[in-house]
Amino acid sequence: MSPEYFEYQNRAKLLSGKNAIDHISYELDNMMCKKPLIITDKMLVKFGHVNILLKALEEGGIEKPFIYDNVPPDSSVKVCNEIADLFRKHSCDCLIALGGGSVLDTSKGVNLTISSGTDNLLEIMGLGVIKNKMVPSVMIPTTSGTGSEATLVAVIADKVKDVKMEFISYNLIPDVAILDPRMTLTLPPRLTAATGFDALVHAIEAYTCKQKNPISDIFAIRAINSISENLVNVVIDGKNEDARMILANASYIAGTAFSNSMVGIVHAIGHSLGAVCHVAHGDAMSILLPYCMEYNYEMVGNLYGELLQYFIGLEKTAMIPYEDRGTKFIEEIKKMLNKLNEVSGLPIKLRDVNVSKNDFGNIVEKAINDGAAVVNYRSVSREAVMSILNNAY
Ligand SMILES: NC(=O)c1ccc[n+]([C@@H]2O[C@H](COP(=O)([O-])OP(=O)(O)OC[C@H]3O[C@@H](n4cnc5c(N)ncnc54)[C@H](O)[C@@H]3O)[C@@H](O)[C@H]2O)c1
Ligand SMILES: [Fe+2]
Repeated sequence: MSPEYFEYQNRAKLLSGKNAIDHISYELDNMMCKKPLIITDKMLVKFGHVNILLKALEEGGIEKPFIYDNVPPDSSVKVCNEIADLFRKHSCDCLIALGGGSVLDTSKGVNLTISSGTDNLLEIMGLGVIKNKMVPSVMIPTTSGTGSEATLVAVIADKVKDVKMEFISYNLIPDVAILDPRMTLTLPPRLTAATGFDALVHAIEAYTCKQKNPISDIFAIRAINSISENLVNVVIDGKNEDARMILANASYIAGTAFSNSMVGIVHAIGHSLGAVCHVAHGDAMSILLPYCMEYNYEMVGNLYGELLQYFIGLEKTAMIPYEDRGTKFIEEIKKMLNKLNEVSGLPIKLRDVNVSKNDFGNIVEKAINDGAAVVNYRSVSREAVMSILNNAY
């Protein structure tokens, strides 16, 4: 299962470690930027994350950034257009996104809108390769989940049509990504669990999709190992800065893995659940993963078997017959989900997140047309998605 040809790109400069944000002004100076537009949300203003950033900017001589702090959960076309307009009005020269995947993806949408010289992000849909020179961009994730700071993807909702659109271009990878453990210390247990599971799904799907390649494999393995060793502990003790740092790195690593391979059926159905029933991305990932793995087992069970040792360790894996390792991996994933459900209330069934069976038809149609379905090893039919939804209900 190795490709005849593949490309790999990860152009973001990574600053990772305690107090990493303090180096931001140096990076902006390198890019000759003086007037940033900060994109964030109210929660991150309230918890003081924005102040940490402002202090670092001020110490570096950047005193008057413009702040947009109204990003809602899930990025939308309307919000991207609104911020692009403010960027122009206030003569900003770079973007700093500080937040979860919704904020980071919003910043990607804003950048696309500005650099394409349009006032409506929707006009860029269907244009093929995005070749325009982008505005300098820095991303500071505050969840350890989406890995958007490392990826070429932006997931942005068109609320009018109730679809989540994917914009894909290497140009969407930021110039600088900053991982600072202070940013995730305030993430509550349930969100830590759900977003951590999103990162785990990125790694598993990167390792098992049609476009997997030897480099994304290595990154995926490392991320799976870090997440299995740290996620439950961090959910129980959110103030563990070292473990928070490991998870931030794992999320970035998983992001770069799937950005250069792809994801698969879990994301295809997850995007659709998000668009139709507004299920939070991490919740959708957690609920769907085991059922999608059971569906994919027939084609990639051997790859699941390979991943077991990175999830439970070499010694325990050695006790398990080779042919049973794939099913054991799925079992271990379920065990971790049950534990996270017990300690944080992470939802593990669709009925727990207000999904109605009446929506299944609509979810199925959107899922089979999602780009992630195409690269899933086992072909994704309507019947398959319907059966996964019923099992996950
Ligand atoms: N671009 C990509 O590669 C990619 C990959 C996967 C998912 N996504 C997209 O990312 C979005 C989900 O992002 P997410 O899971 O990071 O969640 P999110 O950004 O929607 O944030 C969820 C909630 O957590 C809060 N929050 C964030 N950081 C916090 C912190 N440190 N302390 C306290 N509260 C905090 C936010 O205010 C928000 O209310 C979805 O739209 C999904 O489709 C993008
Ligand atoms: Fe994801």
